[in-house]
Amino acid sequence: MTSFSHAVGIIGTGNVGVAAAYALFQRQIAGELVLLDKDPRRAEGEAMDLMHGQSLVGRVTVRAGDYADLKGCRVIVVTAGVNQKPGESRLDLLNRNAAVFREIAAQLDRHAPEAVLVIATNPVDILTRVMQRLSARPAERIIGTGTMLDTSRFRAALGDYYGVNPRSVHAYIMGEHGDSEVPIWSTAKVGGLSLYRQTVHGRPFDEGAMEALFQRVRTAAADIISRKGYTNTAIGLVIAYLVRVILEDQKSVLPVSVDPEGEYGLREVCLSIPCIIGASGMEGLVAPVISDAEHQGMVRSARILRDSLEGMVI
Ligand code: 2OP
Repeated sequence: MTSFSHAVGIIGTGNVGVAAAYALFQRQIAGELVLLDKDPRRAEGEAMDLMHGQSLVGRVTVRAGDYADLKGCRVIVVTAGVNQKPGESRLDLLNRNAAVFREIAAQLDRHAPEAVLVIATNPVDILTRVMQRLSARPAERIIGTGTMLDTSRFRAALGDYYGVNPRSVHAYIMGEHGDSEVPIWSTAKVGGLSLYRQTVHGRPFDEGAMEALFQRVRTAAADIISRKGYTNTAIGLVIAYLVRVILEDQKSVLPVSVDPEGEYGLREVCLSIPCIIGASGMEGLVAPVISDAEHQGMVRSARILRDSLEGMVI
């Protein structure tokens, strides 16, 4: 079956949900998109708006629905969550989002127990782990978008630096999708050539320039938010890419947020490590051999994420 015959659900039609819907629609990744929002009229409006492009895009159907309409969806993207209230602590916000996820998990287990869930709500690593605890489906079927976006930003910046197509840059950001994320220099390559401490395409590995480049990647979300108020278009493309990989059972290796199976000594926390992604979700981890400093970075990311999880009421 081609991916085109499959239905995909999107929960939450805020900026990220809509960008994901648009990317999925425009690239005809699914045959049908089902949009859900706590404000059903908003989801209806978004579905209507996209459907007006159907004659230009092709035979993709978009409709608003409720949880029962997600029956049969192969993949369901979760972008729903509550935003921080003025004066609210991070932990209070996390607990309110966990409460939203409790309701979503119960509904999804009831109506779409087989679907692979793609979690995009921030803080994505924490909420992916929360969903794994709340949902009865196997943890492998619950994946966070994690550092796919950071990795894409990293590859774009390195491509620019070296004057090559970012698709020919093979480099990962791993760990937390957030401040403690870890650039994996030790395996970074342009084509087949390691860039760490080597000259590539006439450009030497300049530690200062590379650190500045990584810092721009690390602060990219904040830099965009200070200008436009939120980020949505690139994460929409990330979601569409990940959904396609699952629907087509591609077995592609992507850095997404999962619970490691002891890689780097880590488990029972979600963070990003390159994984094989196919029709049943996370089908295997492909943890690269990394330097001691990078390993310490991963352990630090895990500690920060575990500390957040500990105070939560799940
Ligand atoms: C981003 O990195 C905020 O997670 C969002 O763009």
